[in-house]
Amino acid sequence: MSYSLLTVTYIAASALFIMSLGGLSRQETARRGNLYGIIGMLLAVLATAFGQNLAGAMNVGSSGFAMLAVAIVPGAIIGATLAARVAMTSMPELVAVLHSFVGAAAVLVGLASFLDPGAHPTGTEGTIHNVEIFIGVFIGAITFTGSVIAFLKLRGSIGGKPLALPGRHLMNLAMLLGCAFLGYQFLADNHHGLQPLLIMTGIACVLGVHMVMAIGGADMPVVVSMLNSYSGWAAAAAGFMLSNDLLIVTGALVGSSGAILSYIMCKAMARSFLSVIAGGFGSDSGAVAAPKGDAPVGECKEYSLDEVVQALRDARSVIVVPGYGMAVAQAQHPVAEITKLLRARGCDFHFAIHPVAGRLPGHMNVLLAEANVPYDIVMEMDEINSDFPTTDVVLVIGANDIVNPGAQDDPSSPIAGMPVLEVWKSRLVVVMKRGKGVGYAGVDNPLFYKDCTRMLYGDAKKNVDALLTRLRDE
Ligand code: TAP
Repeated sequence: MSYSLLTVTYIAASALFIMSLGGLSRQETARRGNLYGIIGMLLAVLATAFGQNLAGAMNVGSSGFAMLAVAIVPGAIIGATLAARVAMTSMPELVAVLHSFVGAAAVLVGLASFLDPGAHPTGTEGTIHNVEIFIGVFIGAITFTGSVIAFLKLRGSIGGKPLALPGRHLMNLAMLLGCAFLGYQFLADNHHGLQPLLIMTGIACVLGVHMVMAIGGADMPVVVSMLNSYSGWAAAAAGFMLSNDLLIVTGALVGSSGAILSYIMCKAMARSFLSVIAGGFGSDSGAVAAPKGDAPVGECKEYSLDEVVQALRDARSVIVVPGYGMAVAQAQHPVAEITKLLRARGCDFHFAIHPVAGRLPGHMNVLLAEANVPYDIVMEMDEINSDFPTTDVVLVIGANDIVNPGAQDDPSSPIAGMPVLEVWKSRLVVVMKRGKGVGYAGVDNPLFYKDCTRMLYGDAKKNVDALLTRLRDE
């Protein structure tokens, strides 16, 4: 492939990635955005494989392609199988593992670039190359171990409680200064650079572990998007090391969009963006997740299925608040049927989506899109919060933390300050969940004891199915 064709293909792939991000920003265009991303990535892989870089750098002709096939084919098969099998609720774990791969790749590319006897530019070019290696390995190592810890926390293999070692900010600072000193040594005497490079890699790995261990379970959504951003910058650094323009552009796109997503998540969780970047948030300011299993206290009033059917029949306006439990129960399809039925009867019907509902950004939007719920009745928290006081019935389906009034009233709550859906301002709130279980943050929910609240216990799918049958039978 000629150099100019390679450049044109890289530009086309970059444009497709940008169009993909644009498409993914709205539900109506998300599928198209996904398609642009797939085509862009296909072009990128083909252009890199057949481009001059491969032949030039490896200079091994067809055996280079054989090596590439040995790496890509099993990887593609394993990746596709895992992605096809993963449950929607386990998606954040998969994302965390994938971020760790990007980090590990950046570390390995950095070490390989340093050890490659054929790639040792001199003078200013050499210094720039070495700075790229050092920074790439540093970001990659933090991303790698941080993502592994995030994966283990999301999976529940290690506890969600933040690890608050005494003087942890000082420890982080000392590790950062140590890495800076090793960077100076690495650049000053490149012939003996392997030792400082490896020591820095070890310190950065510890830093990644420490930063994510210090983050409380309730703040994990921010961690996932933050590591997403880190993995982008690690990829961009690898792009610099390999002199691959497309990898630089793609890494920068992932890095900056991840940073914007982290900012949005921070706003949704009322956390400070800077404290997230510094790590160790979620443990100061009282935001320590209560141990899982804290049973709610107080008395809840129950409703029977018939009473809920009656309330829905009489309601002129209904808002559904979906949460993680709806995803687990896979209740979105009967919910969509109820939506159709009540709207056909003239009911003003909306969905209220909290930015961190479920277990990954956009989780609820994906479920509702899958069930063909019209986009125009799916509202973001800021758009719908003012509508609750004039709403007759709110159905909270498998949601808990995102409708917890304690976030506003109780400064000692682990989710204090997190903006929530103010469902308790409506006339009637029906909470559908299996029992008295707590949500992800592990805290009691005073909503369940409010005068306007009625509980409908049981699996969300079973109950929504039963509601649908009764509403249809009328
Ligand atoms: P949660 O607070 O986790 O509450 C889910 C509720 O669903 C539980 O209280 C559970 O109560 C109920 N449930 C579980 N299975 C059910 C079933 N089959 N049928 C009916 N109910 C069921 O969910 P949420 O309100 O969506 O809040 C999300 C939480 O996850 C937030 O704390 C957020 O910070 C965190 N988080 C979010 C993300 C992202 S990016 N969205 C990532 C990581 C963590 P029972 O056991 O009593 O049924």
